[in-house]
Order: sequence, then C-alpha cells, then structure tokens
Amino acid sequence: MEVIASPTEMQRWSERARHRGDTIAFVPTMGFLHEGHLTLMREGRKRASVLASSLFVNPTQFGPSEDFARYPRNFEGDCAMMRTVPVDVLFAPEPDAMYPQGSQTFVEAIEVTKGLCGDHRPGHFRGVTTVVAKLFNIVKPHVALFGEKDYQQLRAIERMVKDLNFDLEIVPVATVREADGLAMSSRNAYLKPEEREKALSLHRALKAAGACFRAGAREPDQLVRAARAVLESASGVRIEYVEAVDAATLEPLPTIDRPVVVAIAAYVGTTRLIDNLVLGRSA
Ligand code: PAF
Repeated sequence: MEVIASPTEMQRWSERARHRGDTIAFVPTMGFLHEGHLTLMREGRKRASVLASSLFVNPTQFGPSEDFARYPRNFEGDCAMMRTVPVDVLFAPEPDAMYPQGSQTFVEAIEVTKGLCGDHRPGHFRGVTTVVAKLFNIVKPHVALFGEKDYQQLRAIERMVKDLNFDLEIVPVATVREADGLAMSSRNAYLKPEEREKALSLHRALKAAGACFRAGAREPDQLVRAARAVLESASGVRIEYVEAVDAATLEPLPTIDRPVVVAIAAYVGTTRLIDNLVLGRSA
C-alpha cells in the first residue's frame, strides 16, 4: 500500500491510474477502522480496478465542544487493516495540507442538512461536504462508498455530487452491526462495558419502530413513540432526537406513503451515538 500525504502527489497518482485505464474506488475515513470500514473497502475493491482510501480526522466537521482532540487514532493499526483488504493507496494528509492558511471556501448542502444531526451539530455537515468535495478533487475517484449508518451524511454527499456535477458514483453500503445489533462506530471505543450494554437500546428502539411499521402503523409519530418508549425505559440513555422522516429528502412526512428513515441520536454517558433504520423500501 502506497501512503501519500501531499494533495498534489495524490492527484498525480490518480491521474496516472486513470491514464493507464484503471478505475478508482474510494473510501474516505477518519481512521480507527472497524469492520464497517473494511466492508466499504471490500465492496470498493469489487467495483473498480484500484482502491484508494483516506485517513484524515477532519477538524472542520467538529464543533468547538466536540471530540476532535480525543477522537481515537491508531495510524499503524489502520494501515495494517487496510493492507488486508488490500487498499492500493492511502491518502493521509496533515491538516495544514488540507486547509492551508487563507482557506475560505466551503461547500454546503442546505435543505438535506436541516433536522436530525444538522439541528444539533451546527456546521458539522458543512465541514463534511467541504472535506469530501476536496477529497474527491484530490483522489479523483470513479466511485465512492459511504455507510448508511451516517444516513444524513450520505444523503448530503449524494445531494452535493448531484448539485455540483461531480463525475462519480456514490454507493451506499448497509450498516454493519456487531452480533448483538450494535452499529459499528469508531466512537464505540469510548463506551465502558456497562455503557456498551445500554447502547444496545438504540438498536432495540429501531426494532420496536420496525415492528410498529410492520403491524400497520403509517404515521411517523407512531414509529417515533415506539422507539422513544424503548430508549426512555433504558437507564443512562439521554435522547437527543428520534425522528421518522422521508428517507430520500429527510423532510417531514405527514403519512408514511414512501420509504421512511427512523433516526436516533442519543448519549450513553458522554458518548453520542447515532443509528437508523429505513422502512418501506424494496430490498
Ligand atoms: O464518515 C466519516 O468518517 C467522515 O465524516 C468522512 C466522510 C470521512 C469525512 O471526514
């Protein structure tokens, strides 16, 4: 695996690959990899002739009181995991290379980042779409893969790609879960053993919403109430939001007559976790 830190060198690498006739699949990450990332990477391998990844803990997507400084990092471990896939090239820039002095241009998808996490993490999605746009211009992929666990992020990136005519395909990949249902996340590393048990209530809450939908409920509020009841009965879980919205636009739905996403953000101790479930879409 080649490791490149300079944006210009990475651009040259990709230009050479494209010139040779290779196609490039890309999985951007903030590191501290888990099976969810590896699933994206393995899927990427199938979809192109070379696989690129990036490792960059992006400061612009963290709020001032968020966990940027303590975000888990393990560069050597991440490289070892990427080699097992294998990843062909890793772009791992320093913050100064991504945001040199004087940087002042941002990319923002407006409507799709309203509600859900957008309401609770001001500036977060602007940071995500900005860094992803930059990464696309640097890595020049034909296809890029994103997990459905970060559902609003996925929709914001799809919107940006469409609105700004990026010439690449976005491939969504289903959330990877532990055997007991916990959605994989780098932030699970923050959980103490007793908190990890409580964190399972997010998945249980989504299952309750799913059962409610399958029993015939077609009002978003019914799904929200079913999920909330589970979260509220779990001690040590603080709900940030539970919403059931249009799975395509993330706008409120008066009645469920199209695919709906039930999305949760909740704190277990000091750890903020998110999870979601899409209902009513064909498999
Ligand atoms: O999902 C993530 O890990 C990050 O938000 C991403 C897409 C790599 C941008 O920093």
